[in-house]
Amino acid sequence: MRYLGNNIKMTVNNLTVSFSDEGPDDAPVIIFIHGFPFNKSMWNVQLEELKDDYRVIAYDIRGHGSSDSGNEDFSIELFVKDLLCLMDALKIDKTVLCGLSMGGYIALNAIENYPERFDALILSDTHCIADTPEAKGKRMKTIERIKKNGVDDYADESISNLFAPESFTTRGEEIAAVRKMIVKTSKQSLYKTLLALSVRKETCNKLPEIKVPVLIMVGKEDKITPPSAAWLIQEKIQGSFLNIIEHAGHLANMENPEDFNYQLKKFVSSVKHL
Ligand code: MLT
Repeated sequence: MRYLGNNIKMTVNNLTVSFSDEGPDDAPVIIFIHGFPFNKSMWNVQLEELKDDYRVIAYDIRGHGSSDSGNEDFSIELFVKDLLCLMDALKIDKTVLCGLSMGGYIALNAIENYPERFDALILSDTHCIADTPEAKGKRMKTIERIKKNGVDDYADESISNLFAPESFTTRGEEIAAVRKMIVKTSKQSLYKTLLALSVRKETCNKLPEIKVPVLIMVGKEDKITPPSAAWLIQEKIQGSFLNIIEHAGHLANMENPEDFNYQLKKFVSSVKHL
């Protein structure tokens, strides 16, 4: 039996996972994977827009939103296992994946290891490289900073880097929602995810092996994973499309949902075998 709604809880990979599942039973499936340290609600506008024509699922990665965190150390590989277990639990054989930033790292690792489970990819504001020594050092400093100054201070610092300058005047509601998502994440989960991100493997070398349709999107003013990183991905995946989203920084789907949704719908409706 399928449960419909936006805070469904299910035990997946020995963990309580919270997810939204909407849209017709027999429609093509799109699974949305959020970035760090956000949660599934960052995809609310996309789910609303697509749910008449697609079965749309967004879930909270372990340690985020309303999903439990479990006792293990986090890793991108563990997050991928959670995703595959969720698909199995929901009896989803194949899906389109849409991941933003950390969600993109998960999507790229998932397709590298389980290519037969995915019909198409949407990669937003993400990159394929591993952390440089400097980036790793910055993550360790962030952990120290959260320990010393707390999560509110971390949220303020993050917000200042996440959005395009104009979003601070035009997207007040979205910024408040993102702040809420960040402060809802426990310190332990922040530390565990920062460590997982710092040791993630690069996926650039495997990009030429991707044979499904791929749409890449990036906010024109994304400072964290800039357009140059998106070009690098596009260059390596034959036949992939790249759209630069105007008026957006790192959270393109929230800062310019109109263009993001237009491109997303155009792309999924063009995928022939769905
Ligand atoms: C994200 O939005 O998921 C993060 O920027 C990813 C990262 O810190 O590498």
